[in-house]
Amino acid sequence: MKIAVNGASGYTGRLVVTELARRGIEAVLVGRNPERLRAAAGKTGFEVRIADIGDQDSLAAAFAGADAVVNTAGPFARLGAPVVRAAIAASAHYVDTTGEQHYINEVFDTFTDAAVDAGVSVVPAMADDGGPSDFISHLVGETAGPVDRLTVALWYRDGSFSRGTLRSLDPNLLFDGALRYENDGWTTYGAASHATWRFPSGDAPVGVSKAALPPVATVPRHVPVGRMEGLLGGSFDALKVITPAVIDSLPEGPDDEQRRQGRWTISVEASGQDGRTVRGEVEGTDGYGKTAVIAVEAARRLVTDGAKPGVLAPSQAFDPETFMDFLSEHGVRWRVTEG
Ligand SMILES: NC(=O)c1ccc[n+]([C@@H]2O[C@H](COP(=O)([O-])OP(=O)(O)OC[C@H]3O[C@@H](n4cnc5c(N)ncnc54)[C@H](OP(=O)(O)O)[C@@H]3O)[C@@H](O)[C@H]2O)c1
Repeated sequence: MKIAVNGASGYTGRLVVTELARRGIEAVLVGRNPERLRAAAGKTGFEVRIADIGDQDSLAAAFAGADAVVNTAGPFARLGAPVVRAAIAASAHYVDTTGEQHYINEVFDTFTDAAVDAGVSVVPAMADDGGPSDFISHLVGETAGPVDRLTVALWYRDGSFSRGTLRSLDPNLLFDGALRYENDGWTTYGAASHATWRFPSGDAPVGVSKAALPPVATVPRHVPVGRMEGLLGGSFDALKVITPAVIDSLPEGPDDEQRRQGRWTISVEASGQDGRTVRGEVEGTDGYGKTAVIAVEAARRLVTDGAKPGVLAPSQAFDPETFMDFLSEHGVRWRVTEG
């Protein structure tokens, strides 16, 4: 098995490279900067191939012979589509680490037919937020039956974001531009349904904002749901005023120690059409490290187990329970409760 990593020189890309080496999976590191790619390869012995995202042919050539592409080069709204197109052209499966809700819908809208024709599976959002939140929502939906309302709340704490994440968080899209699902489609909306949310690990309710979370783009594709929205816990006021120059001046991302201390919680609540309430919770640490674990396992499963061709939500590509059990082996806790 050979996996191409696009964006291998970046903060998340290097973690993906480390995870591939740890698992003994052969990799090709793809990007625009030979020096940074060689540094990312380190002592792994992985091949380096140079391709700029602006050059479609060189990108497809760089993916030649790869069974799957893991794409970590963001912001995905700006950089993602050419990489999906090149992976399909190279007949390689595709997963990425995006957290950008609008981009995820764009991938479904743009690439479904091409992926089916090429016989490859394209699974965006296989990161610490998009993967587990989609899986837990599916498991909650299975328990609840047809769902009237589904709410997913996400809470990051004790950590910090990478520069690449900050560049990818467009506050206009993330907050005011957030989409919710209702009447069989996605739409912008007014106020969030909740101002606070009680997370399983928090003593007190946490302030939440409406947010463009990935699962709102993926879950309605496999869970029958009347309305679904996303909430983000904590205060993100600084995001609304931070400038690109300030982001450029920050460290590339948290150091290893800080990274491992970061905690994330996903809390899902479904009201079934029969009046029952079902909740799901996922808790983990080291969001960037877990993102690498999730993206590599997703690519490995597409290659070894296969999935149907096309653009797929995580739960359409993988069995949600066995994937969550795999994450349990990496310290992620999850449960579904009724009532
Ligand atoms: N949702 C989640 O939970 C989650 C978790 C982790 C990461 N992510 C997302 O993953 C993305 C990467 O984050 P990061 O922290 O790794 O960012 P990063 O450190 O800035 O890395 C970005 C990568 O993209 C490459 N790149 C940028 N512009 C390019 C271009 N025009 N052509 C070719 N390559 C280009 C960079 O190459 P150079 O080295 O040459 O600059 C680098 O390899 C972000 O969108 C982030 O939000 C999401």
